[in-house]
Amino acid sequence: MDTIHRGLNGVNVDTSRICSIDGEAGRLIYRGYDITELADLASFEEVVHLLWFGELPTRSELDALRRTIAFDLPEPVLDMLAGLPKGTHPMHALRTGVSMLSAFDDDPDGVDESNVRRIGLSLLGRVPALVAAHQRIQAGGAPVEPDPDASVASNLLRMVNGETPTDAAVRVMDVALVLHAEHGSNASTFVGRATASTLTDAYSAITAAVGSLKGPLHGGANAAVMQALEEIGSVEAVEKYVLDTLASEKGRVMGFGHRVYRVMDPRATILKDVSRKLAEESGDSKWFEMSLEMERVMEREMGARGKQVAPNVDFFSASVYRMLGFEKETYTPIFAIARVAGWMAHLFEQYADNRLMRPRLVYEGETGKAFAPIAQRG
Ligand code: ACO
Repeated sequence: MDTIHRGLNGVNVDTSRICSIDGEAGRLIYRGYDITELADLASFEEVVHLLWFGELPTRSELDALRRTIAFDLPEPVLDMLAGLPKGTHPMHALRTGVSMLSAFDDDPDGVDESNVRRIGLSLLGRVPALVAAHQRIQAGGAPVEPDPDASVASNLLRMVNGETPTDAAVRVMDVALVLHAEHGSNASTFVGRATASTLTDAYSAITAAVGSLKGPLHGGANAAVMQALEEIGSVEAVEKYVLDTLASEKGRVMGFGHRVYRVMDPRATILKDVSRKLAEESGDSKWFEMSLEMERVMEREMGARGKQVAPNVDFFSASVYRMLGFEKETYTPIFAIARVAGWMAHLFEQYADNRLMRPRLVYEGETGKAFAPIAQRG
């Protein structure tokens, strides 16, 4: 009997020096640094440098990296966004935009280290620019000019909301980007690496990764969490929603459960704290209170069923993004903006020591059938 690892559960496809996860202890490490410390002290750009070059940057290295990030989009790409039908989901727009950018790159296909790093730097600014421009255009407005001296976090808020963000909002955005930057061989990163393993170009790999992230079992869960909270509407109605959902055929409450973590995702622990603080500061505690209640009911119900299902990164990010002023359709694209850092780090590793990814499927279909010409098939 062939052993089958459905969902590639527990399969080691390669070695990596980028990220390690301890699912039993709830620990996430980027290149040797605990995520809790990075979220507390590092900017997104510092984490990009860490993930891409293996070390935290010096001041001059950080300044150089920040100067290289540009948020400009080719005119035809903006025209493409303007031509999309009203209501086009931002992840469809982003996936199309990333793919289209390859046509405006003088060397989209080179997979040598320096060329792939150049493409990574370009996407670091252009992915947020695509997300923001799509949202502004869909709302009937025009893209907002970035501030060339500001960070990715600051420019994301500026380009989406159309105003200079407060320092506090930029810090929260930075924390969210740091927490979402990397997570080992998750579905979208695996898809990106598998795509790159054919030695196709980095744009194709990131386009595939964006498509993978969109799914509700992966990055799409953060929008699904807010959708659920909006439908529920009040703290009192949370318990019934959870019980009804668990009793339904699919039985999944979005924002809970993880392939790797058996305890609370450490990113969810940090975002829970951020969500609490934002709720206190803004006086709008509804989303946080509902999230707390959902966590309480899920803990009780999952415990009673003997299942280790705790909040994941998507759960509290929903209320955080809401309080930062984002529409729920933008939540998964924000995830993508951050994850460009991790996706690219993995592409560097994959291209540097490549082996084509080609697993097998165990055939269970029919055999030995005799071919009947079409005239005899009725
Ligand atoms: N709600 C209720 N029960 C759940 C949930 C959930 N969210 N997640 C897992 N379970 C239960 C399953 O029903 C299953 O029970 P069973 O053994 O009786 O069948 C058990 O826990 C194990 O679940 P699996 O689906 O086998 O675990 P898997 O590793 O395949 O799934 C996944 C992980 C897909 C993330 C799952 O937990 C889920 O669907 N969660 C909801 C979607 C979500 O929040 N996704 C974001 C994940 S984080 C990220 O990708 C950034």
